[in-house]
Amino acid sequence: MWKVISVLTVLAAGPVAAQQVADTVAPEAAGAGVFEDMGPEYAGAMAAKVQGKPVVARNWMVAAANPHAVKAGADALAAGGTAADALVAIQVMLGLVEPQSSGLGGGAFLVWYDAATGEVTTLDGRETAPLAATPRRFQDADGAPLKFFDAVVGGRSVGVPGTPALMEAVHGRWGKLPFADLTAPAIAMAEEGFPVSPRLAGLIEGDRERLGRFADTAAYFMPGGEPLAAGDLLKNPAYAETLRMLNGGAAAFYTGDNAQAIVEAVNGAMEGAGMLSPVDLSIYQVKERAAVCAPYRGHEVCGMGPPSSGAVAVGQILGLLEGYDLSAGPQDAQVRRLMGDAARLAFADRGRYLADSDYVPVPVKGLLDEAYLAQRAALLSGDVALSEVIPGEPEFDHALHWADDISLELPSTSHISIVDGAGNVASMTTTIENGFGSRIMVNGYLLNNELTDFSFSSHSEGVPIANRVEPGKRPRSSMAPTIVLKDGKPVLAVGSPGGSRIIGYVAEAIVGVIDWGLDVQQAASIPHAVNRFGAYDLEEGTAAVDLTGALGEMGYEVGSRELTSGLHLIAIGDDLQGGADPRREGIAYGQ
Ligand code: GLY
Repeated sequence: MWKVISVLTVLAAGPVAAQQVADTVAPEAAGAGVFEDMGPEYAGAMAAKVQGKPVVARNWMVAAANPHAVKAGADALAAGGTAADALVAIQVMLGLVEPQSSGLGGGAFLVWYDAATGEVTTLDGRETAPLAATPRRFQDADGAPLKFFDAVVGGRSVGVPGTPALMEAVHGRWGKLPFADLTAPAIAMAEEGFPVSPRLAGLIEGDRERLGRFADTAAYFMPGGEPLAAGDLLKNPAYAETLRMLNGGAAAFYTGDNAQAIVEAVNGAMEGAGMLSPVDLSIYQVKERAAVCAPYRGHEVCGMGPPSSGAVAVGQILGLLEGYDLSAGPQDAQVRRLMGDAARLAFADRGRYLADSDYVPVPVKGLLDEAYLAQRAALLSGDVALSEVIPGEPEFDHALHWADDISLELPSTSHISIVDGAGNVASMTTTIENGFGSRIMVNGYLLNNELTDFSFSSHSEGVPIANRVEPGKRPRSSMAPTIVLKDGKPVLAVGSPGGSRIIGYVAEAIVGVIDWGLDVQQAASIPHAVNRFGAYDLEEGTAAVDLTGALGEMGYEVGSRELTSGLHLIAIGDDLQGGADPRREGIAYGQ
């Protein structure tokens, strides 16, 4: 029954799938009042999301997690800036208005399509472990892994931030506008104040105890001891000062007073776990890496390779599905069986093989090899859940003997998609890891807890784990900023927050657009069904839970839960169409 089908057959399935995603995910209440004074154009963009329609434009488009950030990027594009300029303007605004998800204290991965050369490349602004870090960083005195939040909160989890250096690299390479013009809106808003969004207020309320452990963090998010409420005016003059400092170049972030403040805050919040030193900051480097691309139904799906597992895992899932008919849409249990077991196979390989390839050999080509994927895809030919899923043995010219990683990644992070007037495309996922990161605040920004993306165990039964902590290494990520090309031209930019569920969200959205013929707003709204190598998670309160019985009968352990993706997509064709995830506060906006 499951066999190779043509792309045309698949696309013909569109209306069926569109019917299946209609009215499924209730949109975030578009900021519940706090974004109302942004003018009629932005009101229109917010209304489009509530109505489930894509935003359509001819020249350029931005989609990101907060309307103020979208406006900062849009203003840069309207002023003749490039996608690189818009990216900087958006990132520095997100660091102010969505500080729990990303910012100067974190890291990011950028996938960039260059309209002038027709090439796709990636920049790695991932955080690095201190040179004093050891594989036992997240273990107790007996070698047992720490409890997750004992590791997250405090200095032990903080990696050297990459985002300031990444912004400088992006701007230096592809930007046109002066850097100071791009930070100016965030500086003004930090000084004049911005209304706290409902989402930020809710997250502060839910994290009071952890935020309260650090005096500067508590004073900012809980002035007078009370959590900020939605609509409260929040000022951040320290952040404005830090941005002014960045206008003079990122070196000021990585050396001198700012670096010293980071080092003191981090080391003051941990005991004997491999201290951070000023040298760790001063040697930080952004790395350009070749994009990892995988074919899917006549498209090239290009994204971020190691240290992210994003492009390999998304590419594997799609490669495993390529020979099967998904046209029955997201509410079909057999389609979900195929997608769920493809994800389980990809996660099995990810757990064993994916890590920072500057430290351990990673068989990227072998994992995406057509013959290897065909052999793994044959495992999907039954009609019930695979009873056992183990890593495969991809071709590689090194001996690979790794144990499986069990690191936990919880949802956080933010995704930005941009297409500029010249046709450049930026797809960037940016993070401080957990919501509010390590909870340590320095000079107006939060420091990440990215190092908890490493495996807490260094070995399993004597066999080393590829993603173990090592000095200077970058922790494995799931972030999957993606650009999809057809005939060498970009047709879709997509990405999402969501910890290791990012991989499932992005693969599902790409299937939504390519297989199910969904527009980008519909693709952002598909009721999620995500499998990461364990239970099948169905999105509570949506039609996805209707699959519970059928998937259970196939042998899956099934549960329902909130699945708060933050997909931001732009489809590029005769026009530009933007979609923003209805589960969060973001919008798409273009002209
Ligand atoms: N910390 C989220 C990720 O890198 O996948």
